[in-house]
Amino acid sequence: MHRFLIPLFVLLSSAAAHAAPGPRVASPDGTIVVELATDNDGRPAYAVSRKGQPVIASSRLGFLLLDAPKFERNIEIVQPRTRTFDETWEQPWGERRFIRNHYNELTATLKEKAKPFRSFDVVFRVFDDGVGFRYRFPKQSGLEQVKISEELTEFSLARDATAWWIPAGEWNREEYLYHRTPVQQVGDAQTPITFRFEDGTHLSIHEAALVDYSGMNLTRVEDRKLKADLTPGIGEGKVVRAAPFDTPWRTLLLSDAAAGLAMSSLTLNLNEPNALGDVSWVKPMKYVGVWWEMHLDLKSWASGPKHGATNDNVRKHIDFAAKHGFGGVLVEGWNVGWDGDWFGNGEDFSFTKSYPDFDLKALSRYARSKGVVLIGHHETSGNAAHYEEQMGDAFDLYQRVGVPAVKTGYVADASQAKVTGTDGKRHYAWHEGQDMARHHLKVVTEAAKRHIAVNPHEPIKDSGLRRTYPNWITREGARGMEFSAWGQPGNPPEHEANLVFTRLLAGPMDYTPGIFGMKTRSTDGIATTWAKQLSLYVVIYSPLQMAADLLENYDKNPAPFQFIKDVPVDWDDTRVLNGEVGDYVTIARKERGGDNWYLGALTDEDGRTLSVPLTFLDEGRRYTAQIYRDGDKAHWKTAPQDIVIEERSVIRADTLTLKLAPGGGQAIRFVAQ
Ligand code: NOJ
Ligand code: CA
Repeated sequence: MHRFLIPLFVLLSSAAAHAAPGPRVASPDGTIVVELATDNDGRPAYAVSRKGQPVIASSRLGFLLLDAPKFERNIEIVQPRTRTFDETWEQPWGERRFIRNHYNELTATLKEKAKPFRSFDVVFRVFDDGVGFRYRFPKQSGLEQVKISEELTEFSLARDATAWWIPAGEWNREEYLYHRTPVQQVGDAQTPITFRFEDGTHLSIHEAALVDYSGMNLTRVEDRKLKADLTPGIGEGKVVRAAPFDTPWRTLLLSDAAAGLAMSSLTLNLNEPNALGDVSWVKPMKYVGVWWEMHLDLKSWASGPKHGATNDNVRKHIDFAAKHGFGGVLVEGWNVGWDGDWFGNGEDFSFTKSYPDFDLKALSRYARSKGVVLIGHHETSGNAAHYEEQMGDAFDLYQRVGVPAVKTGYVADASQAKVTGTDGKRHYAWHEGQDMARHHLKVVTEAAKRHIAVNPHEPIKDSGLRRTYPNWITREGARGMEFSAWGQPGNPPEHEANLVFTRLLAGPMDYTPGIFGMKTRSTDGIATTWAKQLSLYVVIYSPLQMAADLLENYDKNPAPFQFIKDVPVDWDDTRVLNGEVGDYVTIARKERGGDNWYLGALTDEDGRTLSVPLTFLDEGRRYTAQIYRDGDKAHWKTAPQDIVIEERSVIRADTLTLKLAPGGGQAIRFVAQ
């Protein structure tokens, strides 16, 4: 009797953990495995392992709904079906030209075991470098309109890990410095959030195809368990949708090392293909602008004696751009509405009326006559409702005068954006709520009709929608260089090494690098060396890339400026050669349609020496390496401008030793001989 009882107990407890083991699906190379299951209460859950090691322990799936019973328990998994997909697609512009989209997919229906037998689907796509999963709400009676009050998706880390994250729900939106903490100290966090397990495995959680839904934050509920925390909506529920619809994909990038995360194209692969057809009118370019001088308070957006966007000043920028081969000139403060408290409510902005000392048509014509274009600017102060009222006219105007790109802005505290609801009334909204997700797509599609590319600042997070809408060319969405211009501590030396493995995993960023003038209103100035500023052009991918400094600082320093003139913004290939989150990184990229390679390496506050085999270079070719490196005395605090520029001849069998100063970097142009 005794001998019989013990095995029975073991059997029962194991049955309790896996009441109904469900279907599983593995990545094409077999290393990543996703398992679906329900527990004894009929609660659906998934788990993920990689190379036989658990990564995500059993984690719940489901929803709390408004005005309808929840989808949480008493659920069974029915009709699992799988398929394999493998294609290679071409990016019109990007960090690499061809992308392989190869996954195994499992779709399962999660069905109520009791009346009214409603159901929803969950779809898993398992790639060699990670997992994406989304929910699919079918059309069914009683759930024609779905009001989601909470998404119950969990991410329960299977093992201890270090986390890099920024807080969610704080007033300054996405513009925070990264925390590095044990997972047990994560609070309410934004995505992408990055983890390193003790064995070195890296994980980044984010989302793809954020369309007509609220952005997902992650809140830690206990120990290593995080749970989706959707951004609030403007009324009832966090998301309101008519069925059928799909949620965004929840994504897990997985890699042996940090570098692997930054090599992944999973987020793009989970987005729909280009919906705009011929997008040859979307032109990646470098630009200068009437900009940094405002942030240094030398000029103003507002009218008056300090007004920056005057005909003379813009012409000066156009001449400079033409002389040095830049494609664009950004003009901020050209339009009426900046006088007074412009970040107050946005109601004063006109997007069609220029200040009297700025002639949009004549300047655009002048720019075009010199092979340059103006990049327009629409600051909304978060008032998306006011902007939408003028948007059609505003884009028509830009199209008429030949302005092919616009930087938009949503300066307002988180939760203080303004949208027009389905009730026709104005509502306060979060920058990443469902209504703002709709707004951004409206801007992008309306701009596309007029062949205009869009670069939003204070945006919604990047979820890879540039694949579907290639005129969504870049965005801000993190602490940019501007923080180091203002009268407060700027970005610390580790900031960019954090960005590469967190925010930048989501997509391009208009970081605005290239500052040589180290004195700013910030207490520390710019915490960088000049060589590091140059490295940012390779390390931070952005198809619109600014040379952000005052023009006079480039005129005074032609030798280091040469790299900014030479470096491209569009690439055939990208290789992340090394890196550790928040410490350092080296990236090599091959220019689009050319033979030359470029390399950028940067470090945090610690100087370090990196050994870089040049195996990425093409076989059988010799290159002149134009090296821009930190000098012996270089230090972000004491000698940022100590830069050495030298040349040597190299082939792919060579290994370079890169010596990076504290807060420093290195940029190299490999010119094929
Ligand atoms: C904040 C943006 O990040 C910055 O680039 C811009 O100059 C100001 N808003 C004004 O629109
Ligand atoms: Ca900003």
